Amino acid sequence: MSEDVISAKQASALEMIERANSFDALREIEVGQVGKKGEITQLSKLIGTLPGPERRAFGQAVNVAKKSVLDAIVNRREALVNEEIEKELIDQSFDPTRTDHSINCGSLHPLTIVQEELEEIFTAMGFLVLDYPEVEDEFHNFEALNIPANHPARDMQDTFWLKNGTLLRTHTSPGQIRAMGSLQVPFRAVFPGKVFRYEAVDASHEHTFHQIEGLMIDSEVSVANLISVMKTALSEIFQKEMEVRLRPGYFPFVEPGFELDMRCLICTGGGCKVCKQSGWVEFLGCGLVHPNVLKAAGLNPDEVQGWAFGMGLSRLVMMRYQIDDIRHLLGGDLRFLSQFKGGAKC
Ligand code: FA5
Repeated sequence: MSEDVISAKQASALEMIERANSFDALREIEVGQVGKKGEITQLSKLIGTLPGPERRAFGQAVNVAKKSVLDAIVNRREALVNEEIEKELIDQSFDPTRTDHSINCGSLHPLTIVQEELEEIFTAMGFLVLDYPEVEDEFHNFEALNIPANHPARDMQDTFWLKNGTLLRTHTSPGQIRAMGSLQVPFRAVFPGKVFRYEAVDASHEHTFHQIEGLMIDSEVSVANLISVMKTALSEIFQKEMEVRLRPGYFPFVEPGFELDMRCLICTGGGCKVCKQSGWVEFLGCGLVHPNVLKAAGLNPDEVQGWAFGMGLSRLVMMRYQIDDIRHLLGGDLRFLSQFKGGAKC
């Protein structure tokens, strides 16, 4: 057998290797060519049958052919690995940092869903949406709101005090002072946010809850306008005409002041633990901004007037989704939270 045969077999093996487009196909060629019974392996077995002078050259040619085929297999295998990696990197769904194959999809918290809707409703009525600090000073949380030290209203809104004398705000009303101090009159604005109170917790009272404050300042404003804005906002949120009632209410920073109650949607007025069997849920405080508050914020009560409201956002969420215990809202229980799909993208 001549060395031409060896070259021919080598060339055909190299061509097959080059064309192999899977690991399995390559393995098959490897076994068929350089495996125990492979074609090129078989050639070495012929060495002994050859006449003495030819053996050496033939043996060397077989070894060279075998080595070149083995090298080609190693190279092709490496190329296939690179092609796989390349493919996976191009595939957008491949995330090399992912360790788990299940998808946990989050969604917006019900408080966020309702807050964002309210922001849209008020923006459509020309209100600015503002954000103020949760850590406040005594001046903004109490004094400027006509609640001096030792005023009994401070007892109703005790809170968490920080060592430097600041406090976690008890309501969103300090935003009134900040807004009046920085915005050009006339303006209307809402400021939603988290508030904190030293509170006995029950089905409708939390120590940490959410409010949304509204403030309108102009040369002349009216309670009729305030009520109309409140009814519009509530009817938009609940997508139906809402039943509300106004009661006189005392807040040192408004005069006159009112409490606005909403018909309890949990029991539709029949009485339950949320409305304390009354059929009504206290929902917001409101009124005309007290002249002392206008003065504390640097405005002249003879020139401007204002109305303000502070709405219990947490209670609004409860009514909207028929949640019968406020403690679910910030309880962090996924069985509760996963029922709300707002904002989820999967
Ligand atoms: C205030 O916080 C006033 N700042 C509201 C206000 C603003 C009045 C502007 C006048 C003008 P009040 O303490 O009533 O008021 O709280 C307002 C609303 O927050 C309540 O109507 C109720 O819906 C909600 N709220 C009060 N305490 C809690 C609580 N512990 N847990 C959940 N919601 C509460």
